[in-house]
Formats: sequence, structure tokens, C-alpha cells
Amino acid sequence: MTPTPKPTPPDQDKLRPHVFDGDIQEYDKRLPNWWLMTLYGAIVFWAGYWFYYERAHYGPTNAAAVEQQLAIIEAKRLAATPAVDDASLWKMSRNPVFVEAGRATFNSTCVSCHTEKLTGGIGANLVDQLWIHGGKPTEIYATVTNGVLAKGMPPWGPVLGGKKITEAVAYVLSYHQEGEPIEVQAAWVPIAPK
Ligand code: HEC
Repeated sequence: MTPTPKPTPPDQDKLRPHVFDGDIQEYDKRLPNWWLMTLYGAIVFWAGYWFYYERAHYGPTNAAAVEQQLAIIEAKRLAATPAVDDASLWKMSRNPVFVEAGRATFNSTCVSCHTEKLTGGIGANLVDQLWIHGGKPTEIYATVTNGVLAKGMPPWGPVLGGKKITEAVAYVLSYHQEGEPIEVQAAWVPIAPK
């Protein structure tokens, strides 16, 4: 037998019309505000998140975020490599952390002679495949460390120290490819600044 729903007193939530198992009835309760705010907040968050990452692409993709983290880990590992050799310098030149640090050093210390595009001025062109003092990574490292004072290239070893020189060399190498031809250049003829 189904009892008829009881009438709702005016100060109570309305009873819903259905009845289960004979006499179980439900109130039609209003959802509490904290619950509604959580729902609306989640919807607003979703819209913002979707716009930021999926639509406008302001945030990095997952893949890019992983790459960034891996580059940082690799940079730490490379920085801990005690010996500077050709292979590790090439690796550093493909690592954005090293290259960015090197770009900063280069732009503050080397551009006045080598120019921002590295194409040469007072100092030699560093993006072509002609090298006066050798184009192997370790040879470039040695040139930067010891300089060629007689020709106007200061020795940077005492000024910058190993870490910054390594980064600057990685930056120069980022303009080159491992295995590209290395040609010998007899001397650099300074280009007068424009
Ligand atoms: C005061 C000017 C000056 C500054 C500053 C300078 N260089 Fe040089 N650099 C030269 C000159 C001049 C040469 C050419 C030397 C020669 O003819 O033997 C040269 C040569 C080089 C070479 C050798 C190029 C080759 O063909 O073998 C490298 C590598 C180099 N510089 C890197 C750097 C880096 C990295 C910095 C910054 C840390 C720097 N230089 C700052 C003037 C400068």
C-alpha cells in the first residue's frame, strides 16, 4: 500500500512526490551554497585553464614542460662533468640552459668585438666555418681562455672562469653543427665598425 505524500509544513523543504519501499520519502532540499560555489568555481577554473593552455597556448604543453625539466637535469649533469672535451661541449651547445647562459655572457662580454650576430667586427667571425685557431670545441675553448693578445683578443680565463667560458663556447657552438667542415683562415682582417 502506498501512503499518500504528507503535506509540507510552510517552514520545511518540500517533500518530493515519489515514495520508495512503502514509506521512504525525500525532501527537495536546496543545494548548500558552499557546494554550488565549488561547482561554479570549478566551471570558471575549467574555462580559464582551457583558454590558457589549449586555446591561447600561453602555458607550455606537457611535452614542452617535460623537455624543459630534462634540459635542466642534463645541464646539471653536464656542469658536473669535470673534463671539458669535444663531446661534452657539443652536448652543452644543444642544451637550452647552457646556450641561454652563454648568450648572456656573450652579449655582455663579447659583442663589442664579435657583434650580436657573431659575424665579426674587430674580432673574428664566429659563425662561418673558417677558423684561425681551430674550430674544434676544445680549440675554441682554449682560444677563449688564453686569448690572442697580440691580435687583440683578450684572455678570458682569469676574467670569466671555467663555467662562464664553457657556456659562452656552447653558445658559439650552437651556431654550428658537429661534423661540419672546418677550414683554416690565416688571419682576421678587422671590419671597421659602421
Ligand atoms: C676586445 C675585442 C674582443 C673581445 C671583447 C672578444 N674578442 Fe674574441 N677575438 C678578438 C679578435 C681581434 C680575434 C681574432 C684573433 C686573431 O686574429 O688571431 C678574436 C678571436 C676569437 C676567437 C677565435 C676565432 C678563430 O677563427 O679562431 C674566438 C673563438 C673568440 N674570439 C671568442 C670570443 C668570446 C667567446 C669572447 C667573449 C668572452 C670574445 N671573443 C671577446 C677580439 C675580441
